[in-house]
Amino acid sequence: MKCDSKEIYERRKNTGKQSIPTPTLLQIFIFLAIGISLVVKFRCGTDVVSFPPTCNQNVQSNERPVAYRLENLTTELEHVKAKYQTLDDTFWDVIVGSSWGHIQGNGTIKQPVVLLLVGQPKSSILDVVAKDVARLYSNVFTMRDDSIIDIDGGWQAMKEADQAKLDMDNDLENGFNNGRKVVLLRQFDKLPPCSIMLFHSYCDNENAPHKDAVIIFTVELETTVSSIAQSIEELVQEHLGSIWAQCPEELLQDKIMAMHSRVSNNIAFVK
Ligand SMILES: *[C@@H]1O[C@H](CO)[C@@H](O)[C@H](O)[C@H]1NC(C)=O
Ligand SMILES: *[C@@H]1O[C@H](CO)[C@@H](O)[C@H](O)[C@H]1NC(C)=O
Repeated sequence: MKCDSKEIYERRKNTGKQSIPTPTLLQIFIFLAIGISLVVKFRCGTDVVSFPPTCNQNVQSNERPVAYRLENLTTELEHVKAKYQTLDDTFWDVIVGSSWGHIQGNGTIKQPVVLLLVGQPKSSILDVVAKDVARLYSNVFTMRDDSIIDIDGGWQAMKEADQAKLDMDNDLENGFNNGRKVVLLRQFDKLPPCSIMLFHSYCDNENAPHKDAVIIFTVELETTVSSIAQSIEELVQEHLGSIWAQCPEELLQDKIMAMHSRVSNNIAFVK
């Protein structure tokens, strides 16, 4: 049986509206409705059966077919590139290169795309660039530019770590269950240090729960990067490492290394 919201919705509507000639027929309809609800519940893995149901199977109809992804990305990329003249090819190579497997989407996806957009102190464009990159991916994968789970680390900073973790986890799961694929987490470095282990699993290289997701973090550095300075990777690791070290209960050196290997593999520097 298919998880087809329209069909179920129609059936529901009909069972409600039609005058049913015999009790037997009514019973059959009710039986069917219950049966389908159960299937929907099972397939969607949700606790509440909503009509029309919002399970992945249905939401996936929003997905842009693989054959059109590259075309959309290539064209849209030209627009975004033209908008930000200061960003060089290296920047865009990181952005596009990291998502290659996802664009081709042929069943070989093993891990989510994790991007770390790094800005200079008080960067005026980091946020807008990050939003445009998120929108780009949202379009490419789902044909909707509102398919973004937007989390502001600065806002989470005001909470206790456990609460922040719980709230972000809920936001992420709700978003993913509603067919969203792109996460934009701004000011990643502002999160309560003890909350970031949440992303240890979301960004896992092998066992991430949502392998088809694109997760974009932004971080603003505290010191201006000069051309002779350390590599941007080192600066990022130092910056994040010193913050995470403030939660020794959860983030000892090995865990800090593990976090780096998850979130700072694809660093795109917003000059
Ligand atoms: C996925 O696509 C790539 C590139 O086109 C190809 O090399 C690879 O064999 C494909 N994998 C599957 C499982 O089709
Ligand atoms: C890319 O996808 C978005 C969302 O569906 C659409 O608005 C846009 O026109 C597409 N761009 C191209 C070049 O097809």
